[in-house]
Amino acid sequence: MIENIVPMQRLKQAINFHSLPPLSLYIHVPWCVRKCPYCDFNSHEKKQDIPEARYLAALRRDLEDTLPLVWGRSVYTVFIGGGTPSLLSGEAIEQMLAMVRSYLPLVPNAEITMEANPGTAEATRFAQYAAAGVNRFSLGVQSFDDDALQQLGRIHNARQAEKAIELAMNAVSQVNIDLMYALPGQTVAKARADVQRALDFGTQHLSLYHLTMEPNTVFAKFPPKGLPDEDSAADIQDMLIQATQDAGFEHYEISAYGRPGCRARHNLNYWEFGDYIGIGPGAHGKLSFQDKIIRRANVKNPQTWMDRALDADSTGRIMHEQTLTVADLPFEFMLNALRLVHGVPATLFEERTSLSLLAVAPTIREAVERGLLEPDPMTIRPTERGQAFLNDLQAMFLPKEKASPV
Ligand SMILES: C[S@@+](CC[C@H](N)C(=O)[O-])C[C@H]1O[C@@H](n2cnc3c(N)ncnc32)[C@H](O)[C@@H]1O
Ligand code: SF4
Repeated sequence: MIENIVPMQRLKQAINFHSLPPLSLYIHVPWCVRKCPYCDFNSHEKKQDIPEARYLAALRRDLEDTLPLVWGRSVYTVFIGGGTPSLLSGEAIEQMLAMVRSYLPLVPNAEITMEANPGTAEATRFAQYAAAGVNRFSLGVQSFDDDALQQLGRIHNARQAEKAIELAMNAVSQVNIDLMYALPGQTVAKARADVQRALDFGTQHLSLYHLTMEPNTVFAKFPPKGLPDEDSAADIQDMLIQATQDAGFEHYEISAYGRPGCRARHNLNYWEFGDYIGIGPGAHGKLSFQDKIIRRANVKNPQTWMDRALDADSTGRIMHEQTLTVADLPFEFMLNALRLVHGVPATLFEERTSLSLLAVAPTIREAVERGLLEPDPMTIRPTERGQAFLNDLQAMFLPKEKASPV
């Protein structure tokens, strides 16, 4: 399949879909109790009570603006992310999901995930969220070490995190725990203790993130002391991969580990280059049509987003829209798909971009020769070396004028 090399320019391809990818819905809740010093998400310290009614009204307008683009399509997963969605009342989540259902058909057993901060976990509210339709919680635990939690500026301690996990597991059947590693002063032994405490709960999913210094955060300006060097962080990561595997988890994406059958379906749809609507401030969307693929991004500031969404004359001004070019698609696809440890079937490229695999055959062959992709014509799968040099591998698929030397 990869042997017949036809240069991209000569293929003269145009987007022409015969069927569209699965559709997901992301809903952004932008408020937090306090801004964590490492976080560059679109999250804002709440200075007063959250204006729930206004926020929900703006979400409705935002979704109504998008509906004409997705008529007739069913939604396969919903993700309520943040920020801290668990700051919203049970009634607010109930109204939010009722509104979603009134506009969009959800597939039977659609995965509906909600992120929660253990510092805001409360039994009655977790039960209300579940009654409203949430069937998966993702908890931002970060660590079970109280000193580390304090250094990370978290609003909860380890005991509260454990309580939140129990509450979540009582309320729904799918729970994810977020942990960060390569924390200041963290050794392999400390990281092992952290992951073991998470594993002991028996949740279905773990997300293990390497703590990164993101630009424009407090940590970027004032880096914490005692951050592990690259080798120590790699040792921690090797340990995490082994410990989770021993406990029966599959490592299926850079940071994602799931028990068999318990992968995060919503995130998987992003990584498999599926479609998604994004509503709420700063939310992003990607939508395929018969002859084009568009990306959309909402304005980030919560107040501006609400004002504009609710202002009858400002239609269109809450978001920026861009149509992807044929030349953009290989990189856009690979940016996501190559994050998956086991890669994707080679046929998915054509399914999700509508372009022939021949368009990327020369680049795939070069990546195989450089030991970055497996020489398997049936799958597009990074080798261990490809995973270690993922940025370089992804950059090989950039449109030629945008590519930088790798
Ligand atoms: C939107 S937050 C999750 C929910 C909630 N806001 C919380 O923190 O409890 C998503 C996750 O991203 C991870 N994260 C955020 N900033 C990070 C950074 N700079 N480095 C690594 N992981 C980060 C954290 O594990 C966090 O739980
Ligand atoms: S609670 Fe979560 S979203 Fe909010 S600032 Fe902290 S890490 Fe970011």
